[in-house]
Amino acid sequence: MNIKPLSLVLGAEVSGIDLSKILTDKQLAEIESAQDEFEVLFFRDQDLTPAAQQALAEQFGELLEYPYVEGYKEAPYLVQIAKMEEDKVNFGGLWHTDSTYLERPPALTILYAREIPPLGGDTLFASMTRAYETLSPGMQKLLGGLTAVFSAEHGGGYAVREFRQNKNLDQAPEQAVHPVIRRHPRSGKLALFVNAAHTVRFSDMTEEESAPILEYLHHHQQRPEFSYRFQWQVGSLAMWDNRTTHHNPLNDYHGYKRVMSRVMTRGEVPVGVGQK
Ligand code: OGA
Ligand code: MN
Repeated sequence: MNIKPLSLVLGAEVSGIDLSKILTDKQLAEIESAQDEFEVLFFRDQDLTPAAQQALAEQFGELLEYPYVEGYKEAPYLVQIAKMEEDKVNFGGLWHTDSTYLERPPALTILYAREIPPLGGDTLFASMTRAYETLSPGMQKLLGGLTAVFSAEHGGGYAVREFRQNKNLDQAPEQAVHPVIRRHPRSGKLALFVNAAHTVRFSDMTEEESAPILEYLHHHQQRPEFSYRFQWQVGSLAMWDNRTTHHNPLNDYHGYKRVMSRVMTRGEVPVGVGQK
């Protein structure tokens, strides 16, 4: 197995491994340690059936059911993320961290490219540990004492193809309260955990009061120098840690089809700076 860093901030390409085979303990440990160091890992030229992609994810943790989209029949935890030729909106089309409105948001997301447009449809990934490190000590201290409200409704996005089947969308949106600065359970790294799609306000504050600071934090966390831009090919697979990164799938390929499949593992209840 070979691990090549792709930028100075996050991302590495892992080669010399076939993800359709059950991984050895050594391979698993190497991948997890690279994941902690590089935050998002990319693999090329993988050949994965839906069942094989789900089996891969199972080796990294308990799987998480995505509440809003029906899974594949043969791999119920795997969902299809598709933009068709006639679609204008894409799934998750803004900077976000996956499903942070859940009590136990996902740890890993594993996304695999099945069909891609001839050009366009790249995904940006950014390091929220770097975003945290580059805040002033005063801001780090202030944020370290705060929690925030996260909601499935915030940021909209219900117009996408995936939600047309309307699974669970008539229920009140999922909501959770999480620390604004999150400690990674294995690496101990601290990360800025708010995101533009789901963070509504700080706890015990109004949306109006929270807005100026949240706006500043979104501006800060979206700075281009914290990001890496990944260009997909059919068979590419990305594995990102939602505890330390956010991502933004670019919607720049109208008229073309892009089909991905996604599976997530369950994370822990997020832990803040001062908590154990
Ligand atoms: C996701 C997502 C990114 C992409 O599946 O969570 O944000 O590039 N997708 O499609
Ligand atoms: Mn996403």
